[in-house]
Amino acid sequence: MVRGVLKRSKFRKMIRRAKVGDAKYIYELLTEFAKRGILLPRSLNSIYENIRDFWVYEKDGKVVGCVALHVMWEDLAEIRSLAVKEEYQKEGIGRELVIRALEDAWELGIKKVFSLTYVKEFFKKLGFKEIDKSVLPHKVWGECINCVKFPNCDEEAVLVELSEEYIKKLKEGEKISSLLP
Ligand SMILES: CC(C)(COP(=O)(O)OP(=O)(O)OC[C@H]1O[C@@H](n2cnc3c(N)ncnc32)[C@H](O)[C@@H]1OP(=O)(O)O)[C@@H](O)C(=O)NCCC(=O)NCCS
Repeated sequence: MVRGVLKRSKFRKMIRRAKVGDAKYIYELLTEFAKRGILLPRSLNSIYENIRDFWVYEKDGKVVGCVALHVMWEDLAEIRSLAVKEEYQKEGIGRELVIRALEDAWELGIKKVFSLTYVKEFFKKLGFKEIDKSVLPHKVWGECINCVKFPNCDEEAVLVELSEEYIKKLKEGEKISSLLP
């Protein structure tokens, strides 16, 4: 009986807050994409320091995806470090991670969430809109100095304004197109 329970739990899938023990798996996941220039690199030190920002997607007992929600200001947060292991992509995991991060933002009382990204079409499917990077507060650019691409940033900015109706419908899995004006 106990063995059966253990066996089943190995195959559970879930999104949960990251623990310090996940940091090195998050680091490996992000580094895999950073090496290919499709994600900004993050040091293990920065992951430990910001571990409370992270959510992880666990499947078959392994961390296969992650996302971070970083609070910027009283009404603004950023989605960072979103990644899903290649062999687990296109299963809806990225979408679920972003939704969890948006719920987190909503629970914290934040109304606007942005991301700097190379995959704006992915974010648009979740209701984000493309915005001009220059409208983001200066504070956002503070960490760019550490980026290998600085000052020639080629990421695009997307932003979503949260509302109770939007969050409810996201959770219910409603087609995002029905939420757009
Ligand atoms: C971008 C990424 C997180 C998407 O994760 P995923 O688990 O494959 O995405 P999902 O399966 O949840 O896809 C949700 C929807 O977005 C679409 N989508 C996924 N990746 C996309 C992309 N690169 N461009 C456009 N649309 C994309 C899917 O087709 C799906 O559409 P549907 O709802 O019409 O079926 C993943 O491809 C990844 O880790 N990429 C490398 C790192 C990266 O670019 N991170 C983003 C940095 S901000």
